Amino acid sequence: MILQQEWLMEDGEDQNQQGKAFAESYAPDLHIAAQACVVDRPIDPCTLIILGASGDLTARKLVPSLYNLFLSNGLPTRFAIVGCSRKEWTRKDFQNRMKRAIKEAGVSDASKWSDFATALYYEPVTYDSLASYERLRSTLRDIEGKHETEGNLVFYLALPPSLYKSVAGMLGAAGLASEGEEGNGWARIVIEKPFGRDLETAADLDRSLHESFQENQIYRIDHYLAKETVQNVLVFRFANSIFEPLWNRSYIDHVRITAAETLGVEHRAGYYEDAGVLRDMFQNHMMQLLALTAMDPPSLFQAERVRDEKLEVFQALRPMPLDKIDEHLLLGQYGAGKIGSTVVPAYRDEAGVNAESVTPTFALMRVYLDNWRWQGVPFCLISGKRLARKLTEIVIQFKRVPHSMFRPVLGEHITVNRLTLGIQPEEKITLTFQTKNPGATFCLRSVTMDFDYHQNYEGPRLDAYEKCLLDCMQGDHMLFWRQDAVELCWAFLTPILDNYEQSTDSGRRLRFYQAGSWGPLSPGQMEKFLREGIERS
Ligand code: BG6
Repeated sequence: MILQQEWLMEDGEDQNQQGKAFAESYAPDLHIAAQACVVDRPIDPCTLIILGASGDLTARKLVPSLYNLFLSNGLPTRFAIVGCSRKEWTRKDFQNRMKRAIKEAGVSDASKWSDFATALYYEPVTYDSLASYERLRSTLRDIEGKHETEGNLVFYLALPPSLYKSVAGMLGAAGLASEGEEGNGWARIVIEKPFGRDLETAADLDRSLHESFQENQIYRIDHYLAKETVQNVLVFRFANSIFEPLWNRSYIDHVRITAAETLGVEHRAGYYEDAGVLRDMFQNHMMQLLALTAMDPPSLFQAERVRDEKLEVFQALRPMPLDKIDEHLLLGQYGAGKIGSTVVPAYRDEAGVNAESVTPTFALMRVYLDNWRWQGVPFCLISGKRLARKLTEIVIQFKRVPHSMFRPVLGEHITVNRLTLGIQPEEKITLTFQTKNPGATFCLRSVTMDFDYHQNYEGPRLDAYEKCLLDCMQGDHMLFWRQDAVELCWAFLTPILDNYEQSTDSGRRLRFYQAGSWGPLSPGQMEKFLREGIERS
């Protein structure tokens, strides 16, 4: 201690600086080197082909993300992008549209646009015409010659899912899916959810994809997995030794995973009417959040090992008892209301929605995992549209103290510890615990210890699409779905969906809620829903 004091008080140095240096000597990794960078290994040269280039996803997400990667040196040095769609656009038309798109997406640094645009091409494609794909192949060979991309191809299907099967088949028939043959280097295909609409259609889609592509060529995107804070769940759990011993049924009372949105159905009624919240959010994002929270540690941080551990979680999902389904599942639909000060219509009054629609826009589901670690612990999954605010978080609620020595003064009630992993918009981790209130009277108060995800970090950040695109170009499957997991999740959800959609009283089971509220249940009712599960388990 004396030594430390002397060290701190050396002549001529600012005391704060000394204090900081001292702290760092004990926690040298507190300060992350600013060069913690976008790309940690060279990326193979490649051509990225966007099928569906005239659509919303291309303009809103894909091209802005690619341009951002370009700005942060996250693209291969030899690289080209080819937009394809049914539109008879010229290359110049496409470049102009994409220039506007990056501006509208809020990218402020346009200084490298001209360099980026030299790698931007366009080719009209008729999706059901083999001749069209053969033309595309010859265009690709020309572009590869110019940009020296060595025949490596990423096909991004920014298309309606109904086209996935036929487009994948055409790519195969045109010789664009095989690897190391016909002038190709490696070839990858990226598809977005939904991967089917139930177990049967998911398996069918997969069979079709596999007619042209191998599993290791297929990248099934779930943009939630690429969110920084979602990736952080594994780091938080498995790079710290203090939480894992508590991470089980002995210490955890229940887990609550929420993905609340203020957005309504927007312009997607055609898709959403058929999907509803269970297909739109639960089959994918909610299941991944559940898996990351509940999985065991893999022996190595490698794609297949991580995906194997997640699979174990999905295998442990207890089938929902269909005869008592209302005790475990609550479905709702938004009515008219206000989001902030804006009056918004009911779901049934949205453009393209059936006036008697029974599509759920909200679900609260209590699930159990039948394994040693989690037996009897309810996982409560909540997601809905038009809720009070945007909030995605995982809350781990610990058990009560086994015995309260303070009961003569405080009674039995002591607030429990709670750990919150904030995913968005607040990217933070909060631990709630009890302290004594200052002063003469003895009473407790809950306080929080907060960690802001961006603490001590000023380096580059990647948004979810940037990360997905980068990982795909690097051939890293870690953040993508594997088909066995897709099928297990459908196997869990399909009976639940059938039970609701095939029942004659779906309308009666649906609870309506006001837009801008927290859904059909009051906080008290929500707690009860959760507690009854705990007591019955
Ligand atoms: C998408 C759903 O996958 O995720 C949308 O199709 C939803 O309905 C969106 O709005 C939510 O994503 P985020 O990143 O805004 O939470």
